[in-house]
Parts: sequence; structure tokens; C-alpha cells
Amino acid sequence: MPNSQRIFVDAVKRYCARHEIAVEVRSQGWLIVMQRGSKRHFALGYDVGLNSAIAHRIANDKGATAEVLGLAGIACVPHTVFLNPKLGEHIAPSGSWVAMLALLGQHPEGIVVKPNEGTSGRSVFRVSSRLGLERAVQEIFSSNLTLAISPYVEIEDEVRVILVDELPVVVYSKDRSHLNWRHNLDAGARPVLLEQGEAREACVALAVRAARAIGIRFASFDAVRVDGDYRILEINSGVMMETLGKIHPELVDAAYSAALDKVFGV
Ligand SMILES: Nc1ncnc2c1ncn2[C@@H]1O[C@H](COP(=O)(O)OP(=O)(O)O)[C@@H](O)[C@H]1O
Ligand SMILES: [Mg+2]
Repeated sequence: MPNSQRIFVDAVKRYCARHEIAVEVRSQGWLIVMQRGSKRHFALGYDVGLNSAIAHRIANDKGATAEVLGLAGIACVPHTVFLNPKLGEHIAPSGSWVAMLALLGQHPEGIVVKPNEGTSGRSVFRVSSRLGLERAVQEIFSSNLTLAISPYVEIEDEVRVILVDELPVVVYSKDRSHLNWRHNLDAGARPVLLEQGEAREACVALAVRAARAIGIRFASFDAVRVDGDYRILEINSGVMMETLGKIHPELVDAAYSAALDKVFGV
């Protein structure tokens, strides 16, 4: 099993042991089969099956997330999606390059180009020139079918809220190293738990509104503070907590337990 997934798999196994649920780990941890009585439940990747298919798809699509949140009047970082020309002319509209250049032109402070369905900060580029944009687009399209472009924003603070049916099970701020502009824990940022207070309340309230807008039950919500106010940057419906698990294993267990309680109706 990939090292990165061990914490999730172990948490599920512990939960099942505590609740006398039979558990079988297949495909090196990618698929987990849980059985209580005659009823089977599955976990695939980091997905425990609480979210509807459409909520899951919207959360994993940065452009669709921004659209849905925008429709609901929820503050978010806008993301515009572009399809890989490899998809063929009748799917990917022509003229994408012109539209990308227009976005660059509208944002002299720069834009961020990334895989539309990315996670963990891979291939996330900040660009402010035509050449930079060209390189980023080429790199992303070499292994992704869609990319998303957002205006670069000066992030004062980035907070992750994990909700299970609107209950905040984990809330932490991502303390990035000074050399890095991205806040991914995989890229070296440290999770710092948020104490009760204004920032925590604001982020939880924003995440709950976003959860309702998308109709999602178990997800992580990344809120960024820009000019003093929080807005949603992205939502992930596969909740990964590997880095957090190294510092606060009890919180990771509690979060997955709360989600599995919903799955099993405990
Ligand atoms: N528009 C943006 N402006 C400033 N920083 C950004 C922007 N988009 C992303 N980032 C930074 O890059 C990191 C990774 O981007 P994100 O959208 O979360 O993609 P991924 O799904 O790969 O984690 C974020 O945590 C954030 O710190
Ligand atoms: Mg991210």
C-alpha cells in the first residue's frame, strides 16, 4: 500500500475492530470492504461513500466548485476551466489560448495555472508572462485533461476545515515555509490547530455554507484570507490527513470515525 494511505487504512481498520465490523483490505489498500451483517460498505481511495456522486465530482472539479459557490453567493477564488486540445476539436473549443492570454492580461499581478482536478499542489504554477503561461499549460496538459486558471491572490492565511454533516471535526491553519507561496502540507507546510475564536468561527461558517451549496457531507474545505476576509479556494471530497496524522493521530481517528458513524448509522 502506498505509504501515504496507511493512516487512512489503519483508521478504518481500527474503527471496524471497535464496532465488530468485518474488514478486508484489497488492492494494496485502495479498496476496503467492510461488512456488518449482510450489508457491505466500501471505501475507495479516501472515499468512504458518504457523498453523492455529483457532490464528489463537483468538489473535485475546481472550476465547477467555483461556479456553484458563485451561484450561491459564497466568496471563493474564481477558477476558469480549459480542456486539453488532445480531447479533440469537437470537445475542446478552439480559441482557448486567446482566452488564457486575456486572463493573464486582466491580472497583471499574475495568475495561477493548475490541473483542474489536482490535489497536493503538484503542477501548480504562478505565472505572469506569456512564456510562463505557455510552459505551465504545456506541462499540465502533458498529463491532465483539464486545467484551471485563477487570479493570483496574496494569501494571508490558509485554513482547512473538515466537516462531517456540518460538524467541524478538524480545523487547522497551514503554516507554510517562508520560501514557498503554496500551502500544501505535502510541500512542507505545517498544520497548526485553530483555537476557538473569530478566525475559526469565520472559516467553519464559510465551510458549512459551501457544504450546503454543493450538497456534500464529508469533505475538506480550504479557506484563504485575502485582504482580511476568508474565501474558499478549494474543496476535496477525498479527505486526506496523512501529515496531520503524524502530529495529531487522535484527531484523524476521530474525524474518520465520525464519518464512518454516518456510514453505519451509529
Ligand atoms: N489563485 C491563487 N493565488 C495564490 N495562491 C494560490 C492560488 N491557487 C493556489 N494557490 C496556492 O497553491 C496551493 C495549491 O493549490 P490548490 O488550488 O489547493 O491545488 P491542489 O489541489 O493541487 O492542492 C494552495 O494551497 C495555495 O497556497
Ligand atoms: Mg490544495
